[in-house]
Amino acid sequence: MELVALLALWVPLAPMVDAGNLPSPVALLAAGLWTLHYVNRSLVYPLRTRTVAKRMPVVIMLFAMLFNSVNGYLNGAYIAADQLQGAAAELLDPRTILGLLTFGAGWWVNLRADNTLLLLRKPSETGYRIPRGSLFERISCPNFLGEIVQWCGFAILCWNLPSFAFAVWTAANLIPRGLAHHRWYLSTFEDYPKRRKAIFPGLL
Ligand SMILES: NC(=O)c1ccc[n+]([C@@H]2O[C@H](COP(=O)([O-])OP(=O)(O)OC[C@H]3O[C@@H](n4cnc5c(N)ncnc54)[C@H](OP(=O)(O)O)[C@@H]3O)[C@@H](O)[C@H]2O)c1
Repeated sequence: MELVALLALWVPLAPMVDAGNLPSPVALLAAGLWTLHYVNRSLVYPLRTRTVAKRMPVVIMLFAMLFNSVNGYLNGAYIAADQLQGAAAELLDPRTILGLLTFGAGWWVNLRADNTLLLLRKPSETGYRIPRGSLFERISCPNFLGEIVQWCGFAILCWNLPSFAFAVWTAANLIPRGLAHHRWYLSTFEDYPKRRKAIFPGLL
């Protein structure tokens, strides 16, 4: 259901690139970061999970595909039209650099945390354990924190409506999910570290 976000971004972009009509370097950078993220999320990550027999209602999957298609297409259309940072964006503009660094920091935190969670189970295991190490010592869901930071970075880089909307949707989706995960850990493991927060170190 995440693959459609990758495909939809390229619907407005691919014909331009095919015709040799390349958008600006910042637009190509934004499209590259999106592609990098969604190749991992939709093609690599699912093959690495050790989730067994977990089910999801079809209607949830269809809504997710609808959201991902619209979100991917809108971001792709703005990138294709070079609607970035209000005008032609420069590679050395402070917003480009800040956006890229923020995206990179979030991506790294998300990847590391995803990796820790995926390796908690041995190949034949199905249960849950307390994740430990690095940001997991401060919060229950560094994977969600990383994802939010990453899309905030993308929004700073693009500085347009679809990218900011996506950062807001991501936070609106993952903050309640992180709070629910945190409550579950606290109620499931008696020895769960009490000083850990849910998603923002020291805050929430
Ligand atoms: N941009 C967005 O709006 C958005 C929305 C959703 C997800 N995401 C991203 O997609 C990724 C996956 O999200 P998710 O909601 O599936 O994350 P999750 O609930 O933390 O689960 C991630 C994986 O780790 C396993 N796992 C989690 N906690 C575990 C524990 N304590 N012990 C053993 N295994 C554990 C899960 O197994 P089970 O499946 O068996 O629980 C699952 O395979 C994250 O990086 C997230 O940021 C992004």
